[in-house]
Amino acid sequence: MTYVRNAWYVAGWAQELDTETPFAITILGERIVIWRTGSGSIHALEDRCVHRLAPLSLGRCEGERLRCMYHGLLFDPDGRVVEMPGQDKIPPRAQVRCYPVMERHSWIWVWMGDPALADEDLIPPAVGLDHPDYILGHGQLDYEAEARLINDNLLDFSHLTFVHANSFGSGPQFAASPARITPLDRGVRYQRWIENTRGSSSRASEEPMDSYMTYDFLIPGVLLMTGGVFPLGTAKELGHGVPDYDKAVSGVTFTSQAVTPMMDRTARYFFSWGPHRKHGDESARDILMKIAGQAFDEDKVMIEAQQKVINMTPDPQVMPSAHDRGVTLFNRLVEKLAKEERKTVHAADEVKLTVPQNG
Ligand code: FES
Ligand SMILES: [Fe+2]
Repeated sequence: MTYVRNAWYVAGWAQELDTETPFAITILGERIVIWRTGSGSIHALEDRCVHRLAPLSLGRCEGERLRCMYHGLLFDPDGRVVEMPGQDKIPPRAQVRCYPVMERHSWIWVWMGDPALADEDLIPPAVGLDHPDYILGHGQLDYEAEARLINDNLLDFSHLTFVHANSFGSGPQFAASPARITPLDRGVRYQRWIENTRGSSSRASEEPMDSYMTYDFLIPGVLLMTGGVFPLGTAKELGHGVPDYDKAVSGVTFTSQAVTPMMDRTARYFFSWGPHRKHGDESARDILMKIAGQAFDEDKVMIEAQQKVINMTPDPQVMPSAHDRGVTLFNRLVEKLAKEERKTVHAADEVKLTVPQNG
């Protein structure tokens, strides 16, 4: 599967990264150790000692440095070995890869591509657990399936009517109301009005209302969604445009979700969800998280089963439906960005090759 490398991938929840406790995660098949030092800074290195390939995540933090606890090599946060017990001369190749790493919106983000291109502005604008306007719960799930299948699921909500009949309870009206889809520079935007509805289990109403939801799905696999319930007729009044959330009668929530490819066919899924303060409290958050817990298990059952069928299928081919427009747009964007990255890498290799010939 193709993934974009020049992107920030979510590696974990920031508050779960304890000081001086190295944490290991595999992203895009690469083992990474992440640690927070006593001074509060965060570092990320390849999780493989240059000496005999022991995991540095079993190591010990010493100031800003990390010591491999097999035979004691000491690593600077830039990946260079600065001390080899019992040996004065340190070979120049005694170095592991260093990854740009950032803490933002309650997530730890790792840049998997060319470190020179790591741009903080490319971190998707997720809503962190400490956001003053929202009361958020959070969680994560490990998948025995490739990240791409989870992305595809999040890019096509017509499955809500079926997979989530018992949890979100969106009803047939949902799959029948197509979203307005707009391509973005690094993603796809969905906007959907469901008119004259009594809502779903997470935003039920006595009277028929108009319900709005919108989300951006961004590289590498981050979903940011909000919406709310509005008086009947709002959708028509606005020409199905963007509503003013201050006029919502209920149900304004925010969810941030991130899909991180680990190995080829494993992924980790991070999520938060909760109400806007004006539309709910801690107990509303707990109800939403309970619904989400059930719904995300429903997705996992379907997607892991789908992965098993794909594994058994020689040359698996899909047959896109009308709802797949966003899936197709996003996957084409991934292919395009990945292709551009490969070109840049090849160009850089050619430059390197010509240097010795000229010199
Ligand atoms: S494997 Fe790390 S010091 Fe030997
Ligand atoms: Fe789902």
